[in-house]
Amino acid sequence: MDRAFGMDRTRFPACAVSVVALAPECEDAARDWARRLGLPFDGQGAWRLQLGPDGLRLACADPGAPGPVRVDFARGAAAHRRRFGGGAGQAIAKAIGVQPGVRPSVLDATAGLGRDAFALAGLGCELTLIERHPLIAALLEDGLRRARDDAETAPIAARMSLREGDAIALMRGWSGEAPQVVYLDPMFPHRGKSALVKKEMRAFRPLVGDDGDAPALLEAALALASHRVVVKRPRKAPALGGLAPGYALEGKSSRFDVYPMRAFKPKDGGRKTPADGGNPDIRPMT
Ligand SMILES: C[S@@+](CC[C@H](N)C(=O)[O-])C[C@H]1O[C@@H](n2cnc3c(N)ncnc32)[C@H](O)[C@@H]1O
Repeated sequence: MDRAFGMDRTRFPACAVSVVALAPECEDAARDWARRLGLPFDGQGAWRLQLGPDGLRLACADPGAPGPVRVDFARGAAAHRRRFGGGAGQAIAKAIGVQPGVRPSVLDATAGLGRDAFALAGLGCELTLIERHPLIAALLEDGLRRARDDAETAPIAARMSLREGDAIALMRGWSGEAPQVVYLDPMFPHRGKSALVKKEMRAFRPLVGDDGDAPALLEAALALASHRVVVKRPRKAPALGGLAPGYALEGKSSRFDVYPMRAFKPKDGGRKTPADGGNPDIRPMT
């Protein structure tokens, strides 16, 4: 992983986190994580970054807190979404611009636990992921490493590269080819339990905060993307920063606001492949 900064105590001051090994054979690797993140290896604190034989997970020590969170692309919800999630027909795919002959390069500037990025990489898009919270980035790095070791998910994980850092700064200082699409899914400042906020990210809210600087993310994304910017919002939420999108697509529990700049040029005249969920012998009508 390309690491832009370590555990930033000024940005994440309330974190009382320590690293724990869940099995004796994990102790050396757990101590490495503690060193890398600048965290104690003592099992104290409100949050525990636990390393076991099945990888890294983050647990809140409060009684009654939700269970530990880890990134697992090979099993569970990510595997289910890959098999039955609607493929190229799902709203996020359409919002990104996935269509026959088009698999845009995507910068996911608010990677979180990588679920949306994995879904898009599963459709054949090349993804760069940026995550600024060191603990979430650590979980994601660990999940990607395990995904690369699994025969089914390895080809998908190979299309995903992770950078740790602040996406606003990284986008402003971008060098090299610009991503065709920048995808943003900042934390929505919503109090209380909301079905719109996935359970795992809700558990992280005390650690991560509300992403109040998200309008600056949109500004930097609009300056960088070559083809479009897509912002995921709760269905009834106002547009990010009050900036009206060109159009919006409704998903099951979210809305995708699309800021289009340039049309995609389909390869092979937009010939359908099985990955598009269609018959490769049928060409779109022009
Ligand atoms: C709602 S979560 C994203 C969930 C993600 N779409 C998924 O599918 O797992 C928002 C994440 O964006 C990260 N984030 C917010 N602003 C950021 C910034 N400026 N740079 C990098 N990461 C940022 C937060 O730390 C948080 O982990």
